[in-house]
Amino acid sequence: MSKTIISLAEITSFQSKEEEYSPYNWYKRMLHQDPVIYNEASDSWHVFRYDYVKTVLSDFKHFSSVRTRSIVNVGYQSEGDSGHENKSERMPDQLDIHNVDPPEHRKRRALLSSAFTPRSLKLWEPRIQAAAEQLIEQFAEQPTVDIVAAYTSIFPIIVMSDLLGVPSKDRLLFKAWVDKLFMPTTSDNFHEINEMKKQAGNEYYQYLYPIVVAKRSNLEEDIISDLIRVEVDGAHFTDDEIVRTTMFILGAGIETTSILLANSFYALLYDQPELYEELRNDLGLVPNAVEEILRYRFNISKMDRTVKEDNDVLGVKLKKGDTIVAWMSAANMDESMFEDPFSLNIHRSNSNKQLAFGYGPHFCLGAPLARMEAVLVLTAFLKTFSKIEPAEPFILEENLVPAAAGQSLVRLPIKLYK
Ligand code: HEM
Repeated sequence: MSKTIISLAEITSFQSKEEEYSPYNWYKRMLHQDPVIYNEASDSWHVFRYDYVKTVLSDFKHFSSVRTRSIVNVGYQSEGDSGHENKSERMPDQLDIHNVDPPEHRKRRALLSSAFTPRSLKLWEPRIQAAAEQLIEQFAEQPTVDIVAAYTSIFPIIVMSDLLGVPSKDRLLFKAWVDKLFMPTTSDNFHEINEMKKQAGNEYYQYLYPIVVAKRSNLEEDIISDLIRVEVDGAHFTDDEIVRTTMFILGAGIETTSILLANSFYALLYDQPELYEELRNDLGLVPNAVEEILRYRFNISKMDRTVKEDNDVLGVKLKKGDTIVAWMSAANMDESMFEDPFSLNIHRSNSNKQLAFGYGPHFCLGAPLARMEAVLVLTAFLKTFSKIEPAEPFILEENLVPAAAGQSLVRLPIKLYK
């Protein structure tokens, strides 16, 4: 079913891309307002405080993930199924884990979890580390590099195509499809972009389907093989379902991780330039630094739910069918949870309570992978370069673009010292 997209511009009223990239003042204001706010222009409810955000994300009896209106549109829609042949357009109900509540959600998530076990992560770690180091080699001798173009926008695609088990020579094809498939749309450009997405989806489908079929008789250590092997209550994925599941995984895991990596470099260059040296002296601090960057710099900053039944669990009267938006990144700035929340502090003892990966039954399945990628990338940099610096006077406003998750860096030039 196609969903109405809710624009949040009326509630945020950001005056610039820069303000949206670093909306600290806005969050500060919102955290000091009433805990539950109704915004008339978008006909939606909003919560910002840590406890309220957790409740909305996890109390699926009152707040459902089955949506008719939503705040994001990144996939693509067949608009009532107008008879297109392209199978890749549809995410069949039994695969969709994003728009479903427990108990059904539990079974669907169990199928997908097979691809993200701790054992898989252990197996993948050396591959991801090797990829992190190899990509650095390509520019290690250059004095400067645009880290977004050369690294952060590419690395998650290299990792995902490798983990899926597709030939590395096809990575660039992969990147071109992914870039198109998950482009955010607005009501103005919806049809034009949706057509492009359909074509990319079709090409992706035609490419991956034979790979999945071939893997059935040659299982390896990769995500597609895991998805072939898994069985929950007698249910298996078909080849067709596996192809579409990989698309969902790519949609969830590529741009988000790219943003985390780019934000990490931004934090090291501009939020706290002395941090690079500190991390270099103690690589053991890197995991908590990543956690703190997830808290302090925003990614998917909010998630929506639909009110399931009339209720007042948040202290206001909510009606069945109302949309409610939980602002995780505001909750990450809640001083009742994080001391001195508006400062980046990699020694914070509870950074891992940040909500960037959500909370409750839909908690991000790829969180351990995203964390591992960020730790391995930063560690590879810290081991290779003694220092990094801004390569030029940098105007943030000119280097941001809207992404599904919010404003994201499109360019970040860095000076490298061996
Ligand atoms: C920094 C990177 C990432 C961020 C910030 C992030 C954030 C999120 C958030 C907030 C949710 C919860 C959605 C909800 O409550 O409705 C989620 C769900 C999910 N994420 Fe991530 N994600 C990241 C990386 C990844 C990666 C690398 C993968 C896989 C390769 C992935 C796969 C998923 C899946 C499958 C779900 C759905 C879980 C469910 O509905 O049960 N994510 N992610």
